[in-house]
Parts: sequence; C-alpha cells; structure tokens
Amino acid sequence: MDIIEHDRLLIIDFGSQVTQLIARRLREQNVFCEILPYQIVTDDVLAEMAPKAVILSGGPDSVTREGSPRAPESLWTMGIPVLGICYGQQVMMEQLGGKVLGGKNTGGGGTAEFGRAYVTPTEERIDLLAGWFLGEKEQAWMSHGDHVAKLAPGFKVYGTSPNAPFAVTADLERNFYAVQFHPEVHHTPNGPTLFENFVRLAGFTGDWTMEAYKDIAIEKIREQVGDKQVICALSGGVDSSVAAALLHEAVGDQLTCVFVDHGLLRLNEADEVVAMFRDHMNLKVIHADEVDLFLGELEGQSDPETKRKIIGRLFIDVFQKYANEIEGAEFLAQGTLYPDVIESVSFSGGPSVTIKSHHNVGGLPEKMGLKLVEPLRELFKDEVRALGHELGLPSSFIGRHPFPGPGLAIRCPGEITREKLEILRKADAVYIDQIRRHGLYDEIWQAFVAILPVRTVGVMGDGRTYDFACALRAVTSVDGMTADYYPFSHEFLGETATRIINEVPGINRVTYDITSKPPGTIEWE
Ligand code: XMP
Repeated sequence: MDIIEHDRLLIIDFGSQVTQLIARRLREQNVFCEILPYQIVTDDVLAEMAPKAVILSGGPDSVTREGSPRAPESLWTMGIPVLGICYGQQVMMEQLGGKVLGGKNTGGGGTAEFGRAYVTPTEERIDLLAGWFLGEKEQAWMSHGDHVAKLAPGFKVYGTSPNAPFAVTADLERNFYAVQFHPEVHHTPNGPTLFENFVRLAGFTGDWTMEAYKDIAIEKIREQVGDKQVICALSGGVDSSVAAALLHEAVGDQLTCVFVDHGLLRLNEADEVVAMFRDHMNLKVIHADEVDLFLGELEGQSDPETKRKIIGRLFIDVFQKYANEIEGAEFLAQGTLYPDVIESVSFSGGPSVTIKSHHNVGGLPEKMGLKLVEPLRELFKDEVRALGHELGLPSSFIGRHPFPGPGLAIRCPGEITREKLEILRKADAVYIDQIRRHGLYDEIWQAFVAILPVRTVGVMGDGRTYDFACALRAVTSVDGMTADYYPFSHEFLGETATRIINEVPGINRVTYDITSKPPGTIEWE
C-alpha cells in the first residue's frame, strides 16, 4: 500500500555529511521528500517513486575516479527538474557531457575551495536565483576538491565565485540546475531562498506538515509491526518519550516500555519519568533497576568508545532479558534521531565518516533477536518536539533539553565511579536550577555539567581542599549538528560557580566550556 499521497521530492545521497540538511530545508517549505543512497536508486526505483523533482547531494568521492557514484541514466529523460549540489553538480556535468577536473590531491590540477566564498551573478537572472542575491554578491559555503572545467551542452553560467567559475549553472530548457556550493548549510545564509525557488518552479504546493508526518509514521509503524508486541526503550529524554507516544498511538497496548535505570541518570530522573509515563500517558512501563550491572561493567574503563560500546551492549542485553518476559515481543523501538545516525554512518548506509558510535546505533549486535522500529530516524530534534506537541505530550516535557542515551557516562570523562556520579548529579541540578531561575532554560538548547577527571587544590575557610573540577556546558543549536556556546553574563557564571562550590561537596573549581561544534562536540565524550 502506498501511504504517501503527497508529491514527493527525491534526494539522491552521494554520502555528504550534510545531506539531511537538504531534507530539512525542504521540510521547512512543507515539501515531502525522501533520501535514498545512490546505490539503491536504480532506473526501476526511480520510475516507481515517480518523484516530482530530484536533488543530487554532495559527497566525498571524485567523479574523476573510475567507478565513482552516478545518478541513474533515466533521470535525465524523465522531464522533471533536477538540482545538483557540489558532487551532485559534478555528476550532472560528467553524465551530461561536460568535464570535471580532479583537485590537486587527485592529480588533476583542479582548484579546491573550502569555506566561505562569495558568488557574483552574471547578467541574466533566473527564477532559481530570484531574491537570492541581496547585494552585489552573496555568501555561500564551498567544500570541494574537484571543479567543473567544461559545462555540459545546454548549460549556461548564472553565478561565479573566485575559485568556481561555474558556481551556479542551469539548462533552463530541461530544468536542470547545478550549484558548486552547499545551499543547505547555515553558512549559506540565503540558501533557503534557493530551495524555495526550486520547489516552487518544480510545482510543489507545500502541503506537507508535521500532522501529515505523524499520520504516515503511524501507518508505517502499523505496517511494520502488525499484531506483534513492541518493547520500547525509554531513556528519560525527549526522543524516546516522543517515540513511545507515537508507538502508543500506533499500536496501543501492544507496546510495553522499559525504563532502564543504568545509574547514569540525573537527580530524581528515574522516578519522574516513570510517573509521567504511567500516570500521564497510561503506558505499560517496566522500571528496570540495572544500576549494578552497568556500573559494574564500566568499572575501570576510561576510553570513550569502550564506554559507549559497553553501555550499548548492555542496553541490548537488558532489553532482550525483558523482551523475553513479554510474550510475543518481536520489536525493539528506539528514539534514534537523524544526528545520531549521520555521525555513526551516513543515512541509509551511504559512505560518510564515523565521529562517535552513538549507543543506540553503534552498539547493536547483528543478531539481537529483536527487529528495530526507529520512527524518528529521519527527524531533527526540533521536529521531534513538534511531533511531540502533535501527539499531545506536555510542553514541560517536550521543552526539556536533550539527554543522551549513555547518560552521565559521557559527561564523566575518563573512569566512572559512583562517587563522581553522585557529585555530578548534584552539580548538574544546581546548574539547571540556576538556569531556570534566571529564565534562560528555553534559550539554551542543551546545558549540563561534566565532571573532570582531575582534582585541583583550593582553599575553603582556612583549610586546603583537594577536590574535583567541573565544566559547565551550555550551547545554542538548531539541530545538534552544529552548536555555539551560550554567552552567559559574568554575573551568572560567578553566581553559579559559587553556588556549586558551596552546595556540592567534592567540587572546588568550576570552569565554563566555550568550544563551538565543530571543532568540539557538544558532549565531552
Ligand atoms: P555530540 O556530543 O555528538 O552530541 O555533539 C550531539 C547531540 O547528541 C546527543 N548524544 C547522544 N544521544 N545517544 C543519544 O541518544 C548517544 O550516544 C549520544 N551521544 C551524544 C548529545 O547529548 C547532543 O544532544
């Protein structure tokens, strides 16, 4: 059964780290789109999907390399608009009879260009660029080693940059557009206009909303799960809460939630979460106290990836244990989000690079005996919140800052001990209380304390102290993929440091982490 009645746009993923941002820009235009890795988009798949338009993503490969990815040939004769971005642009040129030169590292002598660049329009303005050039030139984000040296027949240049003479090109006759830069990233500030123009000229009406997404997600879950039992991992975060609510709406009592207390939760969190799900949402919830198991296996481990892998593995073990007790349980539901997926493996198995193995993706054994349901896999954080609203979850819960699956383990760099966790919980509670008291909670995307694996000397009263140092983290972000530190006032920081040191035994030094992402990550591990 085809449950999607909306016009759809297909994004062919060539493995760029930011492909999902293209989907995001399109959803902002209320356009339904799907991302598929290039490997599975054959001529048949393309014909069956019958997209109203196609976007070709960027990617790490070089079209000059033999065997490098291509778009299916039938794409060029379907009569639909196509937009090629970066690698997608080069694929388009190569397949349609143009010429791409490799960058210096591929021996082709091409001109690499990374970071901010300015695109200048040529004389003739096209619909794709309507309202895009606000001044004489427009900022765009480049990230390419290769470049187009000769346009394919039918194409003309409509924008240039110092190192990309073919920054914007198009074959207006065939509705093919190609840009060398990345209009999907925030550093191309006017990028959304370009997508808006593209979907408008492709004839989309913008009828795709979160309500529609919810209905389709529910249908997909029902189709996948049938009359089988589902067991859902609750972590205490917004993601798993929304996933549970969605599953509950889709399959009702077939869902049993398991809340694993791995001893890495925040102060009072376990009781609060269980109460909220049982009382407010009427879900079946098992409260699994597995603190000794997790902390026991983590003892003596200080390597971040090892810690993540242990937690991931134990999660699966624990779920299997509880799943075995639920008759007919065949599915394991998780609130995995797109940022978790993209940093572990590229979307749908494409070729991008591993930064961290997020526990709800990386730690899965091949044969876990349960099939996965991941209904939020394509969503960004703020979209999950919108979905939560749609599902009627309380605003106070939806507004909570994200909390990672491995919990406090990744906020306790180095070895985890019960003592450190105890201190960390108290410090975190004071910090969040400070943020709330100052009315800053909703302005901040995520805030937490990390306890550092170092003791420092201090003086309190007349005595010497030798206690832990901690770092405060607070970031602004849209989707967790990039982030900046929150600019607290000095008064706030000073007051918070004083409160933490006074109220939390075991900490005698407080620092503020002012690293953005990239180059840092939000969590410390
Ligand atoms: P990083 O540290 O990668 O974090 O910049 C980005 C966002 O993801 C959260 N995070 C995780 N969430 N499982 C999760 O469910 C994980 O293993 C994990 N690691 C990081 C992090 O809290 C931030 O919101």
